[in-house]
Amino acid sequence: MFLGHIYRSDAVRLPMTIRHFGPANVGGAGEAYHTGIFGMTGSGKSAFASYLLAAQLRHTEMAVVIMDPQGQFTSEEGLPFSLQEWAESIGRPVRLYSISSDLRLDQEADLLGDLLGLTRFFADLLTIKAEPNRESAVAEFTRILRATTNWSQIAADTLLQQLTSTLANDAQAIQRIYSSPQAQARLVNALSAITPGTNEFTIAAEIFRPLHSLFAPTNPQGGNRRSIHSVLQELLATGDGARPLLIIDFSSAQAGATDILNSTPVKAAILRRVCSRLNLRAEEQFRQGHGNLNTLVVFDEAQRFAAESPEDEESEILANKLVDYVRTTRKYGLGWAFITQEVSSLRRGIYSQLRVRCFGYGLTSGTELQRLRDTIGDPAALDLYRSFVDPAAIQPSEYPFMLTGPISPLSFTGVPVFLSVYTDFDTFRADNNLAT
Ligand SMILES: Nc1ncnc2c1ncn2[C@@H]1O[C@H](COP(=O)(O)OP(=O)(O)OP(=O)(O)O)[C@@H](O)[C@H]1O
Ligand SMILES: [Mg+2]
Repeated sequence: MFLGHIYRSDAVRLPMTIRHFGPANVGGAGEAYHTGIFGMTGSGKSAFASYLLAAQLRHTEMAVVIMDPQGQFTSEEGLPFSLQEWAESIGRPVRLYSISSDLRLDQEADLLGDLLGLTRFFADLLTIKAEPNRESAVAEFTRILRATTNWSQIAADTLLQQLTSTLANDAQAIQRIYSSPQAQARLVNALSAITPGTNEFTIAAEIFRPLHSLFAPTNPQGGNRRSIHSVLQELLATGDGARPLLIIDFSSAQAGATDILNSTPVKAAILRRVCSRLNLRAEEQFRQGHGNLNTLVVFDEAQRFAAESPEDEESEILANKLVDYVRTTRKYGLGWAFITQEVSSLRRGIYSQLRVRCFGYGLTSGTELQRLRDTIGDPAALDLYRSFVDPAAIQPSEYPFMLTGPISPLSFTGVPVFLSVYTDFDTFRADNNLAT
């Protein structure tokens, strides 16, 4: 396949070998491998990822799922061509699911408790200001929720009222949250105020409803939600037909969606559940003897969710988990591709597991160059990388990438190759004899 020209060559196309994860005797790589795409904002990572994915999607025996925290692959805004149309044109089923309205999270009390803990609910509405007290309150809330059967199917307002009144009437739980009688009394008052008809209830319900809805059988507009389990089952099912392109939108870009999904910790908490489900399901299926799952997982915005030092606790837990998944899922035939701005923003435990690394413009800070030096070795290659020009600074713009790993017949000795990515999808199709 060609994804563009050899950097600085004008018109010499760079031959690339882009394989799926299936057995070598059917053109696969024989195993899954992980990919990293790096470069500063505007360097063309999303565009390059689209071309790379377009090439990978041609192997319809490989399933592809995109974890889309910003919703960019869902809306395709700013992508150089429609990846979804491309996938359809080669016979793949394309499935778009948004967390805010199409997917149903597993009824997991811990998750709803955690999500609620990330809102103003405990801190402002119940005025539990100190963190240790708030953590206890979240724990008590979660405990009551866990003891409530089928809570995901109870109407949100009813459940809210039930939870707050149960907690208000549980003297021992209140004591576990606060030791001082005054604080206890204040909390009981605040909880008791959350009853239908009050202003407090309206505010509480505005927070609670959209969160509860993520677990409910239907979304706020009344449409059905599909369980993550069944969606992942469809993704991982290995059969004869073309396998799906699945895009999971974690943003709140959907009309009427709750902006709670704008928060990084909330996204991280949900992403963690989806990734853990994926990991479990992959393991299960592998154990049942389905063999290599031949599935690519694309993870955008990795600088936030697979970071070396994440900003919040939820992202920290997710990043740790991702290191585990990357290490273990390869043997099931699950390969991950991370798109992230800086090398140093990606967990070392992930970076070290990458087999293919793609470096766009802008990794020029001392730490970044040192990481590149450690990765590349060859000083001449590094010099060529450093000659990359900011795409925004020249007309017409050029989007160069330095690629390492078994991605081109020219890189078989381990030296990097230098690509200038196509800026026109028709040229990509024509050069690859893919005219449709
Ligand atoms: N190969 C390309 N062909 C055409 N236009 C491109 C290409 N690469 C980048 N661009 C242009 O540059 C802009 C920035 O590219 P892109 O969104 O891919 O950068 P990015 O590295 O993903 O940035 P961010 O880190 O902010 O997501 C795009 O909106 C597009 O206009
Ligand atoms: Mg991008």
